This record gives sequence, C-alpha cells and structure tokens, in this order.
Amino acid sequence: MTFTEADCLRSRGDFPALERTVDDRPIAYLDGPAGTQVPRAVIDAITCYYEKCNANSHGEFVTSRESDLLVHETREAAAAFLGAPSWREVSFGQNMTTLAFSLSRALVREWQPGDEVVITQLDHEANRGPWLSLEERGIVVREVAVQPDGRLDYSDLERKVTSRTRLVALGLASNALGTVNDVAYARRLASSVGAYLLLDAVHYAAHFPVDVTALDTDFLLCSAYKFYGPHVGLLYCRPGLLDRLRTDKLRVQEDEAPFKIETGTLNHAALAGVKAAIEYIASWGPEGRSARGSSPPWKGSAPMSTGSRPTTTTPSRRSPASPSTAPTSPAPGRPRSRSRSTASRPTKPPASWEPRASRSGTATSTPCGPSRCWASPSGAE
Ligand SMILES: Cc1ncc(COP(=O)(O)O)c(C=O)c1O
Repeated sequence: MTFTEADCLRSRGDFPALERTVDDRPIAYLDGPAGTQVPRAVIDAITCYYEKCNANSHGEFVTSRESDLLVHETREAAAAFLGAPSWREVSFGQNMTTLAFSLSRALVREWQPGDEVVITQLDHEANRGPWLSLEERGIVVREVAVQPDGRLDYSDLERKVTSRTRLVALGLASNALGTVNDVAYARRLASSVGAYLLLDAVHYAAHFPVDVTALDTDFLLCSAYKFYGPHVGLLYCRPGLLDRLRTDKLRVQEDEAPFKIETGTLNHAALAGVKAAIEYIASWGPEGRSARGSSPPWKGSAPMSTGSRPTTTTPSRRSPASPSTAPTSPAPGRPRSRSRSTASRPTKPPASWEPRASRSGTATSTPCGPSRCWASPSGAE
C-alpha cells in the first residue's frame, strides 16, 4: 500500500501543531527520534476525558466505571498494536525508562551475584542504565560493541552471551542511527543459554508494526509519545511471566499481571490518548481506509461514532525485524497490513474488574469511541 502525496497532506492536516508558522512560514517538524506531534483525535480524546469523566478507578459511580473501562479498552488496543495474545500482557507506566527500572528491580530478585546481563553500546541509555544499576547488586553487565558502520558486532554478541547470562537487552531500532538489529539472532542466542530477551521498541514502533508473538520476546518496551500519543510507557511481558516476578508494589495493588508492576494511579487521560493514537495509526491501514465507520476489531460489535474522523482497524502483525535501517523520523500514518485472527483477540476483563463494571447498567459499554466524547451510554453524564 502506497503513501501518496495526498495522504501526506491529509496527515499533515491531522496535526494541529503543524499549523503553526514561524517567521510567516509553515513549520516542518523533524525531531521524530525525540517524539512525534499528536493528531487532533488524540488531543480530543484527552480533552474529552477531562471534560466528561476524570475520575479515579474502582469507584461505584459512573465516571469511575468509565475510567476502568477506558483503561481496559486501552490495554486491549495496545495488545492488538503489539501483537500480544491478550490485554493481560500489557502494563502501563510513566515512560519506558521507569518501566525498565521497575522490571530490573523485579528481575534482580530472581538472580544471584555473578549472573550476567548483556546490553549494547548501540542502545539508548534507557535500556542500559536500569541494567547497569544492577552492578551494585553483584550482577555483571556485558556490553556488545558497535561497528564503525553503525551495526552491532554480532560476533561480540555471541561472545558476550554465556551460561551465566540471564537477560539480553537490546533495541529493535536505534533512535540515533536508525539501525534495525537482528533480534532473531539475539533470541536464538538468549534461548540457547535459557536467558530472557528484552526488546526496546521505542524507536522501532514509530516506523514498523510490532509483533511480540513473532518476535518471541519475553519483554518489550515502548513509549506512546513516539507514535502520536501522549507520554505513557508500555510494557509487554510474555504470558505468565510477570505473575512470577516479585515487583515493587503496594499491598493493595492486584498481585497479578498486568497490574502488579503498575504503581499508583494511572494517567487515565493520557491512556485515552494512547487508545486514540493506536486507532489513528490503524485508520491508515488498508481496512482503515476502506472501512470507515466500522468498529475496531478488538471491540467486537460495540457501537462506534459515525463522525468525520476515520474509525479504526486492528494494527497489524509483521514478521520479526531483520537487520536493516529504519528512518530516524517516523512516517506519519504509515500503512500497516492486517492479519490478526479473532482467535488472538483480547479476552474479557479480570473477575476483579468485571463485577464493578457490570453491577450497574450505566457503564458497561464503551463510553468513548475514536470520535465520541466521554458521554455515558445511559446519558448519565
Ligand atoms: C530507543 C529509545 N529507547 C528508550 C527511550 C526512552 O523512552 P522514555 O522517554 O519513554 O523513557 C527513548 C527516548 O528517546 C528511545 O529513543
């Protein structure tokens, strides 16, 4: 599917920040590696949340139930976006760095002094610092060298992975150079010694569809502000894995995935924006273009808006990254193919969540679609 000049102009019109002029000239935004601008749909979703909802979770009143539902729907959208089997594998946090630190503190509880973590010189410091911080706990951190051409030295990677390796942490793509790493090779090496694989998809997710299942990764981290959303970090953990880890958490927090690594109150308004960002990307896929007005597949037959903005399709799956070069600034609305089966759709909310949402009829269906505001389905606003 091609991205035409008309598509380019249309996508530019979706981003209010690009309407600015400087010295009477239109602006060009070229700092993609540091984050994208946000489309109107994302701004609207965040604004609508504050205007119509804005409540804490787990309350017995309509806006609180709507907030719980929003968080759940955002998890479902994020699971589809990442190719995860279900929403249970997606946790949210302040940003990628914070989630990586939380994960490092949980993982080190499983490890012994002398165990090893492999990181790379090509990686963003956010995927190095959390692992380097474990040196004070006796963990040995080994760094894979970068070659002069900007690619990882894969023979060095092979040398650095040993029987003591517990984790190989590397990026899918470098935000500095655009290098796309051979993560399939890293997966094979990590598996050969029984180590976890952790992928930093912060830069990559802005350019290519992500498929955690095809990547066969144990952990994947990314950040919504790199793909048209607000500042929210996303963590994927292989099914069952987070449940086994001892995370930093309050006693009152659910002791199960995906909740047990989330601390305090989530940023609900930002999560409304994350959902809208994923829906915005999906709207540029083949089915998003041809099927305006349909529901996003992860929402079954829930009623959606017939407003002017496009509705959504499921973000696509793709085969694992092969070594090449990613652009260092994202292509707005890059098309994504779609092949997700209904079998892998996210399942229903956890029992702990469900009764809360279904006790009253006022907040059991979607409070907000891509272009709908946070009006309660019952009209009880
Ligand atoms: C490749 C990569 N990894 C990690 C990060 C850190 O992400 P966050 O700001 O969400 O902590 C960045 C931010 O620029 C990045 O480009």
